[in-house]
Amino acid sequence: MSTLSVTHLRCETFENPLGLGEAQPHLSWVLESETRGQKQTAYRVLAASTRSGLLAGQGDLWDSGRVDSAQSTQVAYSGCALSSRQRAWWQVSVWDKDGQPSSSAPAWFELGLLARADWQAGWIGAGLVGGQQAYSPAPYLRRAFQLPGAVAQARLYITALGLFEPYLNGQRVGSDRLAPGWTNYEKRVSVFTYDVTTLLQSGENLLGAILGDGWYCGHVGWRGRQYYGDRPRLLAQLEVTLADGSRQIVTSDAQWQWSAGPILSSDIQMGESYDARLELPGWHTPGGGGGGWQPVLPFADPGIQLEPNRGPAVRSQEELQPLGAPRRMSDFPNPRWVYDMGQNMVGHVRLKVSGPAGATVRLRFAEVLKPDGSLYLDNLRDARATDYFTLKGGGEEIYEPRFTFHGFRYVELRGLPTEPQPGAVTGIVVHSEIPPAGNFECSDPLLNQLQHNIQWGQKGNFVDIPTDCPQRNERLGWTGDAQVFIRTALFNRDVTAFFNRWQTTLADEQGENGEIPSFAPALDGASHDGGPAWADAVLVCPWTLYLTNADSRLLAEHYASFERYLTYLVKTSPGFIRCHPDTLASTASVVGADLNSTTGMFGGYGDWLSINAETPKDLIGTAFLAYSARIMSRIAAVLGKTADVEKYAALYEQVRLAFQQRFVTAQGLVAGLSQTSYVMALHFDLLPEPLRPVAVQELVRNIQNRGMHLSTGFVGAPYLLHVLSRFGQFDTAYALLLQKSWPSWLYPVTQGATTIWERWDGWTHDKGFQDPGMNSFNHYAYGSVGDWLYGVVTGLEVDPTQPGYAHSIVRPQPGGGLTYARAEHHSLRGTISSAWELQGGKLTLRVHIPANSTATVYVPANSAAAVRELGGGVGATYLRMENNAAVYALESGAYTFEAV
Ligand code: BGC
Repeated sequence: MSTLSVTHLRCETFENPLGLGEAQPHLSWVLESETRGQKQTAYRVLAASTRSGLLAGQGDLWDSGRVDSAQSTQVAYSGCALSSRQRAWWQVSVWDKDGQPSSSAPAWFELGLLARADWQAGWIGAGLVGGQQAYSPAPYLRRAFQLPGAVAQARLYITALGLFEPYLNGQRVGSDRLAPGWTNYEKRVSVFTYDVTTLLQSGENLLGAILGDGWYCGHVGWRGRQYYGDRPRLLAQLEVTLADGSRQIVTSDAQWQWSAGPILSSDIQMGESYDARLELPGWHTPGGGGGGWQPVLPFADPGIQLEPNRGPAVRSQEELQPLGAPRRMSDFPNPRWVYDMGQNMVGHVRLKVSGPAGATVRLRFAEVLKPDGSLYLDNLRDARATDYFTLKGGGEEIYEPRFTFHGFRYVELRGLPTEPQPGAVTGIVVHSEIPPAGNFECSDPLLNQLQHNIQWGQKGNFVDIPTDCPQRNERLGWTGDAQVFIRTALFNRDVTAFFNRWQTTLADEQGENGEIPSFAPALDGASHDGGPAWADAVLVCPWTLYLTNADSRLLAEHYASFERYLTYLVKTSPGFIRCHPDTLASTASVVGADLNSTTGMFGGYGDWLSINAETPKDLIGTAFLAYSARIMSRIAAVLGKTADVEKYAALYEQVRLAFQQRFVTAQGLVAGLSQTSYVMALHFDLLPEPLRPVAVQELVRNIQNRGMHLSTGFVGAPYLLHVLSRFGQFDTAYALLLQKSWPSWLYPVTQGATTIWERWDGWTHDKGFQDPGMNSFNHYAYGSVGDWLYGVVTGLEVDPTQPGYAHSIVRPQPGGGLTYARAEHHSLRGTISSAWELQGGKLTLRVHIPANSTATVYVPANSAAAVRELGGGVGATYLRMENNAAVYALESGAYTFEAV
């Protein structure tokens, strides 16, 4: 019997995905074992068209045969060609280090509609249409149909331009919210697939859907309504296989009807208005819903890509109860009641209320309160973020809005018919289905709260796309924010599918000249240059994903887009200086370049929201040009494009030289003299080797001169601690991490923050609230420090030469007076963890390395003799002493080291 068990079978990143768009998907499995050094020496994948066939050992779709290989992730399905709708059952057998076999339980994946020709449905909608300022009710659409016999299997393929909520015979189909999410609707829309077999019956059936305005025709960013179209549209195809094998297809077509219903208006930013008196009882059941239904309007096929959804769906994820009873704010004769949810959250409220028909309850939402205890709404800008619920009377009524979300900690109810009853308000937390993948904890409660705030910032801003903020009239997929945070995001949760999908959106928004915009989906016509550190997300995000999952397909898929982007950068960077338009002419004359093809370029946002520190935009731009060139060279290496490896490595060198000539003095001062200037120069290896110590010294001096405070903005902050720790300045790094006074990571924590603030000084004792024009209390960007907690404090990192956690680096750096720290991460290969504890001068380090992978661990110690491995050292090979650490090569398994 093998001690190796095969678990967590994944197809792409999903367990048993339905409606997949990839016909040759990648398969991965996790290997678990308590035995050190346990590994896979061979595997065999069987795939069958039926479960029983698979269990009988017949791989009619694919039998890989025994493959002598350790590969347990990203194994490409290589069996018979699969077509739309096809389901494959699969199972994997592995042989361990001693040649002992073990097998997994069966899993499956099922393809969606892969080709345009699979679709018979047409786009339909209602006669209701709003305007730039006017809202219209959410249309209810439905169609009755007969089935002549019992149902064997049924699938609903459905999408909308707008948002949809499907129903079959009175039942809600699935539990997805805000579907189909936000893509560039002029190019593509995601299609969702549901197994509806058990919802159908022989005889009369009814398929329905409620449509919301969503991003398609509701408010987006600051751009107002109807950006893509005037009203929502539905596309649906229900495919039924009857028990006798015959097939029936019901599509969105002229036989559908529409009616207005109780949702008077719905808008992501503005909120939803619902009048329960207008409900259409039984509208989604055969024969129900009353009269007044009208034939739907057909809409022309927009000719966009109908793409099986490759990202995770958005769903309600958890519920929060308010802290105690609400506070009564007297507003005679109409009191307002303010609830504290105890957490700045994103989603909506479930309201439970009773009262007379026609009474209207208004729900308002805010992240923070004013000193008098009322809602602070100024920072929502033009987002009204207000829901209205009008009662129908006759007992307890429960209301949850469908097509909106709010970012809030406080909820104000006004118009309640009676004093609020217990249970009147429940917070429903809504975000994309991004499974938890890690946590960090240590002996400092404030750092633990910081980690909590990072996690909640991530939940609240991973609502279909990575947004800057969830509350004001913005909520856009800002590229800069996403690229600084992605590494942290990957430690906390499995966001691979989420970012895979967004990469397509980035590519869809790429401009004609190769430029990448500030946010994606983009607004306002032609895509523009998002500028340094923003546009570079196009490379940073997929590269970061690759390091953690070793899946090169995303890199290959978008390689042409990367090349176009770099071509654009080189063209618009005279003498390899990616400069701001204001300094273009002077730069060009100094470096002797011409000014061709620089139209439309954008110097960028600089070190956005830095504190009393100016970093030249040209310097940031040039540093990021170097960074992008270097990433590109590495991507080329992964894809085996040898000539490009050289080409982009050479580009990196040219930019590096240009950077030195323009921004670095012979004595090692870096232009701007700011923390971010030094961080850029050091992090991207842009200085000549001998000048590095000087630059490190200057950086530390700058921090000291500010009383051990940072001054970095969005661009410098993510790397600041990494640079300090890389160059041995641990005390300074920890001092910044643990700094409680403003500006610092912990200052908001000391002020009771439960999410990451947009600005270091969102609120301060002396100045109060920052500019309401831009002051979000839920912005994940400064949460980018999270990867230093995982990656340095507990020392969990991937080895870039063996990505996807095939080989990990565990290099903890105790410090800052912490007495313990621990982190774990559930990687594609299983759980990797590092936990250290300091007690009476003894350091204990516990690490876990998943089966079938290896690690290099650095045990902090003064000498090799001071270190002991408690399990007898099996699987651990001492290598050397390095920088006050005893370095060991580890096989998989659990280890405990002690160092005295
Ligand atoms: C957003 C950002 C973004 C920035 C660009 C702001 O309005 O909220 O987070 O990166 O603009 O400067």
